[in-house]
Amino acid sequence: MSEVVIEARGLAKTYREGKLVTPVFEDLQLAVAAGETVAILGPSGAGKSTLLHLLGGLDTPSAGEVYVAGHRMSGLSDAERGALRNRSLGFVYQFHHLLPEFTALENVMLPVMLANRGIPEARNRAQALLEAVGLGHRLGHKPGELSGGERQRTAVARALVNRPACVLGDEPTGNLDEKTAAKVFGMMLELNREQGTSLVMVTHDRGLARRMDRVLELHDGRLREWVDEDD
Ligand SMILES: Nc1ncnc2c1ncn2[C@@H]1O[C@H](COP(=O)(O)OP(=O)(O)O)[C@@H](O)[C@H]1O
Ligand SMILES: [Mg+2]
Repeated sequence: MSEVVIEARGLAKTYREGKLVTPVFEDLQLAVAAGETVAILGPSGAGKSTLLHLLGGLDTPSAGEVYVAGHRMSGLSDAERGALRNRSLGFVYQFHHLLPEFTALENVMLPVMLANRGIPEARNRAQALLEAVGLGHRLGHKPGELSGGERQRTAVARALVNRPACVLGDEPTGNLDEKTAAKVFGMMLELNREQGTSLVMVTHDRGLARRMDRVLELHDGRLREWVDEDD
């Protein structure tokens, strides 16, 4: 059996704020193999972002466990969890979340520097990845000086720069026009193939989802294999 990079066992989430109780799902199971690409479809409000946050250790489940690279997230201290996240996971969101005051190169260097690998290595890796995503000519541009697609490609480079075992994407191309979305997505698949990075991606785009190894649907608190009615 191939190595599992990220796993959810019996995962449940209920948001509680005062008297407001919002059950989102209970008892979800998911195992993502090394190098595997998984799409997650589902209607708005189904809990897709919640699931990704839990998988990424950005929020804590109400029940169940998440394992990242074999480490049980709830068994780690905040510092250990942060270090594991920085080392093993990359995140890409619908909005790029790049730091506006920094150049594309500096934004991509940052996670490498946070991993204490030093400036020369950070610069080398960041530059190589920005070149790989077709932005070798935009290294010195700040986010405000880049197009939407260029910003998203920079965010993808940043997510991949520490060579994570798995990239978690929450509608990473949802904010782009169809052509640019296809291009950014194609690039993520290419980096998946080249670097063996697993990819878990929430998307509304069934066409993009079909290009992943596995397509799941989160609906009514359940995560199931998606049945493609066009097949
Ligand atoms: N911080 C929160 N507090 C309370 N309810 C929340 C919170 N975040 C999300 N929810 C609720 O949980 C449900 C799932 O949200 P979300 O995971 O964002 O869905 P999706 O990403 O599939 O659109 C929604 O009904 C939403 O209103
Ligand atoms: Mg969402």
